[in-house]
Amino acid sequence: MKGKLITLEGIDGSGKSTITERLKNHPSLSDVVFTREPTKNWIGNVVEQAIQSDTDQIAEFFLFTSDHAEHIAKLIKPNLENGQNIISDRYLDSRCAYQGATLSNRFENSIQWVKSIHKGWTIIPDLTIFLDIDPEFAIERCGNRGQQTKFEKMEFLQQVYDNYQKLIKEEPVRFVVVDSNQPVEEVEKDVVDIITSYI
Ligand code: TMP
Repeated sequence: MKGKLITLEGIDGSGKSTITERLKNHPSLSDVVFTREPTKNWIGNVVEQAIQSDTDQIAEFFLFTSDHAEHIAKLIKPNLENGQNIISDRYLDSRCAYQGATLSNRFENSIQWVKSIHKGWTIIPDLTIFLDIDPEFAIERCGNRGQQTKFEKMEFLQQVYDNYQKLIKEEPVRFVVVDSNQPVEEVEKDVVDIITSYI
């Protein structure tokens, strides 16, 4: 693959969406293809319905994973092959962290189970930026922006946060951690510096 795949990860309320919007307008990233998961295609729309409802966790996992497969086939792989650099707002690790949490009472090692289903067909990111925020602060931010989803609960987000920490420990080279408790301008600067020195 000629292009680089960079992903942004973090718990709900980590400021990831705000940072992504700022990156989209940053002059030094004007050649980058921006994308996200859940996607905006029809499978992504079904995923949104699952998030808003009480869907079985395994069914929900496979919806997120179907969306990922379609995302890779239609956008990620062709663009990387064309030499395009890509930034994705959420990707593979969101499944490991979030579904690793929703499925923790269904499988002994749910993160490894999630990883095993992706093995052999996913494209591993070249670089993953984790926006690190205190879960209590993140929950406060989620509350301030209005209606909360089923994922935006303190105990659950703490579990998701702990799962991200495990993923970072497993792959300390791929992950770069940015302190998202800082003012947004500082977070943006750190993220832009990391990306521009990488690509
Ligand atoms: P968003 O807030 O970044 O739009 O993501 C929507 C929600 O979906 C968020 O709570 C994280 C969750 N999510 C998963 O649980 N698994 C996944 O694989 C992805 C991509 C998102």
